Amino acid sequence: MKFFVDTAEIDAIAELNELGMVDGVTTNPSLIMKSGRDILEVTKEICDLVSGPVSAEVVATEADAMIAEGRKLAEIAENIAVKVPLTWDGLKACKVLSGEGRMVNVTLCFSANQALLAAKAGASFISPFIGRLDDVNLDGLQLIEDIRSIYDNYGFETEILAASIRTVNHITECAKIGADVITAPPAVIKAMASHPLTDKGLATFMADWAKTGQKIL
Ligand code: E4P
Repeated sequence: MKFFVDTAEIDAIAELNELGMVDGVTTNPSLIMKSGRDILEVTKEICDLVSGPVSAEVVATEADAMIAEGRKLAEIAENIAVKVPLTWDGLKACKVLSGEGRMVNVTLCFSANQALLAAKAGASFISPFIGRLDDVNLDGLQLIEDIRSIYDNYGFETEILAASIRTVNHITECAKIGADVITAPPAVIKAMASHPLTDKGLATFMADWAKTGQKIL
């Protein structure tokens, strides 16, 4: 399973990247806004840091303008994946940009039928949003399972990029289902290392070690 980090914060990406935890990065207009950075500049810095796919999202809503923006974003670096929304115009832009050999990440996917259309339009990645479905009392993980079955039934090569991940449990479940990629905020990826029994066990070991009066170094 590949780990993408869902942020435009350079320091956070660099910290995880040093540990080999970053196979790619996803950004969106809200994350760019939070970073307070210029989209072209910060995306270039991310692409210089990370060799895997870096998603940069178009903000136009009509196909021709999305295509023009996508081409401009793709000029930033070879590892750019142009992110387009799952609208009819977004699918048109996906078809054209993927036909030009560019990676395309179709985002804001909330149904299996939308995922089916994105695969047929040549998407490299489909981004189903788990957390936002859970927010409205729908089952985000069920959507990942449904898309996995459909893509496997027909041999679609579009990678399932599970997005809007809010908890470590989302990541475990995506791994069990067989999502190709998860994209999660840095804090959620780091939280995967935590377990209360690890903390408790370590505290006991440290206390017992202190009683021995020994040192290793
Ligand atoms: C994915 O590409 C999106 O940037 C992201 O996962 C959205 O997550 P959110 O629903 O927590 O904003």
